[in-house]
Amino acid sequence: MSTDKVSVHGGWASRWVFVLAATGSAVGLGSIWKFPYMVGMYGGGAFVLVFLACIALIGLPVMLAETLIGRRARQSPANALKVLALEAGHSARWSWWAFAGMITALLILSFYSVVGGWSLDYIIDMGHGDFQGVTSDQVGAYFGKVVADPWRLTFWHTLFMVLSAVVIARGVVAGLERSLRIMMPLLFVMLLVLLGYSMTTGHFMQGVHFMFDFNSERLLEGLLPAMGHAFFSLSVGVGSIMIYGAYMPKGASLSGTVVGVALLDTFVSLVAGMALFPIVFAAGLSPSEGPGLMFVSLPFAFGNVAFGQLMGVVFFVLVAIAAWSSAISLLEPMVAYLVERTKVRRAWVTFWLAFSCWFVGLGTVFSFNIWQQAKFFVSEGGVFHLYRWGAISGLDFFGVIDFFTSRIMLPLGGLCFVVFAGWVMGREAVRDELSIRSPVMFALAFFLMRYIAPIGILVVFAAQLWK
Ligand code: PHE
Repeated sequence: MSTDKVSVHGGWASRWVFVLAATGSAVGLGSIWKFPYMVGMYGGGAFVLVFLACIALIGLPVMLAETLIGRRARQSPANALKVLALEAGHSARWSWWAFAGMITALLILSFYSVVGGWSLDYIIDMGHGDFQGVTSDQVGAYFGKVVADPWRLTFWHTLFMVLSAVVIARGVVAGLERSLRIMMPLLFVMLLVLLGYSMTTGHFMQGVHFMFDFNSERLLEGLLPAMGHAFFSLSVGVGSIMIYGAYMPKGASLSGTVVGVALLDTFVSLVAGMALFPIVFAAGLSPSEGPGLMFVSLPFAFGNVAFGQLMGVVFFVLVAIAAWSSAISLLEPMVAYLVERTKVRRAWVTFWLAFSCWFVGLGTVFSFNIWQQAKFFVSEGGVFHLYRWGAISGLDFFGVIDFFTSRIMLPLGGLCFVVFAGWVMGREAVRDELSIRSPVMFALAFFLMRYIAPIGILVVFAAQLWK
């Protein structure tokens, strides 16, 4: 029976290592860097509300589906779908979807590594004391200077990619556990310290209101971005959590573990937002600053408190580690696939894939400087406004990759995985893997996977197209 399969890539020593690895994957730049700036761009509380609903009703069922598919098949996503589809008497073509997901993961990694590189850069800048006593204008100008320099960005992007590739080349199972066991809890502590600091800024309640008061007119505006970000934040829709599920021990309770990871990830996003916005308001910065939000608000805070220099270094080290453990999970599905399919060594596969992602990532590097004027796909009016080269509005190269991956590919990938679990694998196989004792809870989980999540995804797409 399929539950007896073993993974050729090794397995986590226990369920706790899975929790650590999956949390390492989920908690990353998505929660600390991207979530706050998206909240700022899409109307504060309206975005947060839709995001939370998408996590609960769509992201979580997809996460359960991915993990259980991975654990049942114990292979890379594309092979997992193929094997399980054939076992259930369906077409092996299901694996194409997973393949598309694995490519999406590589595209995400291309820009993820650039931003991971910014955090590395900021560790050194903090350590130098570049932000001691800065004003809010100066932090903004500093960030502008950093991203205006393509060489500087390329250097850090390269370093970040190399650091991620080294772990993958040695095998994820061996490399991750030791580093994450200490670093993840420390990151939580640092975020709470930051939150404590925010409370002293005198703008804490303004930040809380910004995050939780919502204007119902803006609910629809952030619908697709919020759903896309729910996938991004939970690391689902591309096979990352699936491959980690494939390394999960057999008897371990899957549903409780997955729910725990999702809760932790959401908690980190909310704390990051609540820590950041009061600082943004206290410094007189704009919440809709965009991708630079974290890199201007936090250095401002660290630059103006006692021990800020040291805390700033520690904080950016932790952010870089959180980003690194997520980057690893973006690369792993395709590496595992190619190791299964070819006779090429893991180290070589890793090298070539990381190199390709690095190369595509140069497009993101240039988006902030020499290609700043190159705009595609004007986005305000909807999804399908094509090519406007040189226009003021619209998306740059980074924007295009982010848009295509987070708003289109992640939800489509998620749709495929829940439909696969809910309709192709069928109730008994899902029950067997999920090991939920209470029949009511199982019925609820299965209902979410079979109906709510797929319909939810389609409704959000439809709402976007007809807006
Ligand atoms: N979840 C990660 C983050 O929030 C990013 C990620 C997306 C990782 C998709 C794997 C797959 O930073």
